[in-house]
Amino acid sequence: MDKKTIEKSDVNSTQPTGANTFNDQMSGIILMERPNVSWDNVAGLDSAKKTLIEGVILPLKYPDLFSGRHRRPWNGILLYGPPGTGKSDLIQALATEATNTSFFYVSSRKISSKWSDGEKILQTLFTTAREHTNSIIFIDEVDALSGTCSEYESLRRIKTEFLIQMSGENRNVQVLGATHTPWMIDASIRKRFEKRINITLPEASVRTEIFKIQLGNAVHSLSEEDFTELGKRTNGFSGYDISVVVKEALMKPVRKVQTATHFRKAEEACNENPSASDTVDDLFIPCSSKAIGAIEMSWVDVPKDKLFETNVSMVSSFQG
Ligand SMILES: Nc1ncnc2c1ncn2[C@@H]1O[C@H](COP(=O)(O)OP(=O)(O)OP(=O)(O)O)[C@@H](O)[C@H]1O
Ligand SMILES: [Mg+2]
Repeated sequence: MDKKTIEKSDVNSTQPTGANTFNDQMSGIILMERPNVSWDNVAGLDSAKKTLIEGVILPLKYPDLFSGRHRRPWNGILLYGPPGTGKSDLIQALATEATNTSFFYVSSRKISSKWSDGEKILQTLFTTAREHTNSIIFIDEVDALSGTCSEYESLRRIKTEFLIQMSGENRNVQVLGATHTPWMIDASIRKRFEKRINITLPEASVRTEIFKIQLGNAVHSLSEEDFTELGKRTNGFSGYDISVVVKEALMKPVRKVQTATHFRKAEEACNENPSASDTVDDLFIPCSSKAIGAIEMSWVDVPKDKLFETNVSMVSSFQG
């Protein structure tokens, strides 16, 4: 062995072992943390929620009810539909509901980018899931793992491994998948998802609910009628689109603060608007230069804890 080779092998011995590298690769691809999303965070989709309860929660809770020859839990459930319609959130909510269950969240895009280790990751995933009493494996964006046009050998191998694992003995493991491009999934894999749930764009009444969920506990002055109006006006919007509209609306008061040349004491503003809080003391609110009590100043002059949180309102936040 020449000196150069010895040095090289010494360096290699300080590198992580193959196993460590593999574990490192698993983190970020497969998450086992229980998400913090509840059914209430997801508006509408009632029939999908029912199917998930019937296909996942009830078989876990009452296994005897599903142990007969004919009544068996669904073998693989696939959620498909347009982007941003709540598919991923719905499964996360399911995982929150399914207590006493191990939840494995799998990012398909990350697995398929792991080239040579993709197969091993899938094997470990299914083996670990089978070792737990009850497991849910959620493969998000499943099309990335099982595309119809896997031109690379390693991707083909990942797809084959996935087929093998899906066909294996998965008694205590429920596999769920989600995709917004179901036509991109290889037919042999699509077949492995026995139950398919179509998640559609929300209708007006659900959009109204989504506006409320997205506004959360932000201070606002929207009436029931305003929410109904917003729902009606957003035909064709997904839940994600609505979340962006609300984010924009929430930013408007911030922008007002940033660009204001005048502020006035919030107390005076509240006197004109009795619905506003009456505990505002000496807080400042941005206003026009002509407003009563306007003081020429910018946000840098307003102390940290002296800014009045402006309402999100229909007129100034959603129509302006
Ligand atoms: N029904 C809904 N109720 C409340 N919020 C929703 C709903 N649908 C979507 N959203 C909002 O949109 C965001 C994106 O939703 P999600 O990631 O679940 O969509 P997706 O269907 O998985 O999309 P993709 O197919 O692009 O992965 C959610 O985090 C949530 O804020
Ligand atoms: Mg998703």
